[in-house]
Amino acid sequence: MNKFFLNLGKQPLANNYLKSFKQNQIRYNLRLFFNTRNKMVSISKRIPSEKMFTNNYPYRSSMSKTMRNSFYKLSLELKKKFIFKKILEIGSNDGALITNFKKNEVIGVEPCKNLAQITSKKGYLTYNKYWNYELAKKLKKKHGEIDLIYSANTLTHISNLNDVFKSINYLLSDKGVLIIEDPSLLECIKKNSYDQFYNEHIYLFSALAVKNLLSNHKLEIFDIKNLSTHGGSLRYYIKKKKNKNLKNKISVKKQINKEKKFGIHKYKTYKIFSQNVKKSKDSLLKMLRNIKKNGNKVIGYGATAKAVTVVNYCNINKNLISNFIDTTPEKINKYIPGKNIKILKYKNNILKKYDYAFLGAWNFKKEILNKEKKIFKKGLKFLTHIPKPKIIYY
Ligand code: TMP
Repeated sequence: MNKFFLNLGKQPLANNYLKSFKQNQIRYNLRLFFNTRNKMVSISKRIPSEKMFTNNYPYRSSMSKTMRNSFYKLSLELKKKFIFKKILEIGSNDGALITNFKKNEVIGVEPCKNLAQITSKKGYLTYNKYWNYELAKKLKKKHGEIDLIYSANTLTHISNLNDVFKSINYLLSDKGVLIIEDPSLLECIKKNSYDQFYNEHIYLFSALAVKNLLSNHKLEIFDIKNLSTHGGSLRYYIKKKKNKNLKNKISVKKQINKEKKFGIHKYKTYKIFSQNVKKSKDSLLKMLRNIKKNGNKVIGYGATAKAVTVVNYCNINKNLISNFIDTTPEKINKYIPGKNIKILKYKNNILKKYDYAFLGAWNFKKEILNKEKKIFKKGLKFLTHIPKPKIIYY
């Protein structure tokens, strides 16, 4: 049974960066639910994929050093640990992972045309398609069974998870390994990062919910790693149940016990989270109003999808955060979805004009604070809402 626990209000499509601000853009109700039976947390509204994953999709995995490093490290691990003829990546984005491999070793699947083209042009075989059973059939016919399937921050974006895993199971060889990674629900609740929720994140996975889901498909998690990416993610190593060659590691039990200890399986946990989110909103608004009252200016650092949830939920307008900056070409000179706040191109000296920088990309806090050390030293203050609204002084 799906039980409601939080309303994040009317939200625009998170990655819909518009050239000019329109008051009447598409908005939907962002409401969160907990399934008491299978322990899955999801949003209620399903936006058609075609509306979200357009031919001009603005999110690029390669835009941060942190993500590039994470994918590079993973590529080394995969080469060392697993035997495979080919790796299939579902949601290959701009190739942050696959470009670490030889061209004949990888196959990308990416529904956004502008991203698929980036890797195709570099000579990497990329199917500009949605992941589904039809595509799995086509791939099996052409390439045979696959020994290693990888997917990061993609499966939580697909509404029909049963179709997702049925298709994977069909294509994966019996001795094959599926690796998925996505933001961790436990970390999200602990950090009060309600901004992990937006229209594209239909689900937020816990190990417990993934375990339940996989058991319907004769798949099981045999290892889990905690990652620091995207504010705390889990990397799940999955195999077919009938494959007894790979041993189940203690990490799986440990993670599930940790989640249960925290109460990830209890509705009450989400009611408390909901109260904390409301407190976070009040406190952030209070801080921003104070800053304004004192005649200081705030810029948003990183026009992330997460920041879209924050500014729309808290109703932060340009009187409180005058602009955002970002390095992504697809976002520059456009407006934060739902708000009349313009995104400016990141330049070295742009921060000089501001007193505070609100960390829209709080998940890259370390990278950003390091990059901006000079101006941070000179007096720029950072502002974050994670885990609680606070000012970060040098
Ligand atoms: P994400 O939090 O959804 O991964 O998005 C990160 C966004 O932040 C992306 O649009 C790139 C942007 N960004 C910068 O503009 N400068 C930076 O130094 C970093 C790390 C990210």
